[in-house]
Amino acid sequence: MAKKRILTGDRPTGPLHLGHLVGSLQNRVALQNEGNEVFIIISDFQYLTDRLETTDIEQNTTALLLDYLAWGIDPKKSTIFIQSHVPALAELFVYFSMLVSVSRAQQNPTVKEEVRATAKGKMSLGMLSFPVSQAADILAFDADLVPVGEDQLPHVEQTREIARTFNNLYGETFREPKALLSKMPRLMGLDAKQKMSKSRGNAVFLSDSKDVVLKKIQSAVTDSGKDIVYDLEKKPAVSNLLMMYHLFSGKEIADIEKMYEGKGYAEFKSDLAETVNAYLDPIRARRAELAKDTAYLSSVLTEGTERAVEVSEKVLRRARTAMRYDYPSLFH
Ligand code: TRP
Repeated sequence: MAKKRILTGDRPTGPLHLGHLVGSLQNRVALQNEGNEVFIIISDFQYLTDRLETTDIEQNTTALLLDYLAWGIDPKKSTIFIQSHVPALAELFVYFSMLVSVSRAQQNPTVKEEVRATAKGKMSLGMLSFPVSQAADILAFDADLVPVGEDQLPHVEQTREIARTFNNLYGETFREPKALLSKMPRLMGLDAKQKMSKSRGNAVFLSDSKDVVLKKIQSAVTDSGKDIVYDLEKKPAVSNLLMMYHLFSGKEIADIEKMYEGKGYAEFKSDLAETVNAYLDPIRARRAELAKDTAYLSSVLTEGTERAVEVSEKVLRRARTAMRYDYPSLFH
């Protein structure tokens, strides 16, 4: 693959969990190590879509940063930055918001779902328009590819529409990005009801201690019956735990089933916890080392954000010129 410009990111709503690791973080590290130019946005505008209390924002941002760095995002190769500190993103959002009808914004299925799940039917203007802000995040960096989970596909589609509308109106300015869907199966949470999620209390965090991992996995929901077999219909909870076992041990699911023939859930779960812990352990140590070096952490964010400002300002200038908002005769 020719080298690509890649943009993706996370809301700073808490630390990353096992689902993020296999669904996106490892993918980002691979894309970085293949020589692509990776930009990772810590999306603190989007943090506000479903909560207004901000006491934990700095702590959450640090947790995200630690997860990125501990798992192999290399700030010499990739750019990690904070959304609210890159002014071009806010300005582009203003222009883009004029290009999207309210009814189009209301059709975005992920927005609908989030309104249902988190805003309890009350939708702020910011919630309705966050995919437009996300379009600014993506287009401001001339991204070719946006690695995302399935729930983010509607936003990439909306981004492509905005790029096309802008280009048709003001001339070729923005690159139309493509979504890059993770090949990894999505991990369900330990409640076996919903996908693993920061806010649903069903996640194993990458930063959890050994004991916490063990306790969480021991109390994971299972299915009726005793057999440890992969059967998504009859045994969705056990299947999810088997998938987890497979992902973190590298063993084939069929082999794991054989290993636990005639054995109980308790033994299976405690081995699973050990497997997950063995996987997380070396990274835990690295994360703890990094956490002590606050000067380094702040330099990563400062330099990353400076670079993001530089790159996005160039694209913003291009957009202003296309729109005749550069007012050359008044300012020169
Ligand atoms: N919406 C993404 C999430 O909830 C985070 C995000 C913000 C993002 N801006 C982005 C992802 C741009 C990809 C591209 O996880």
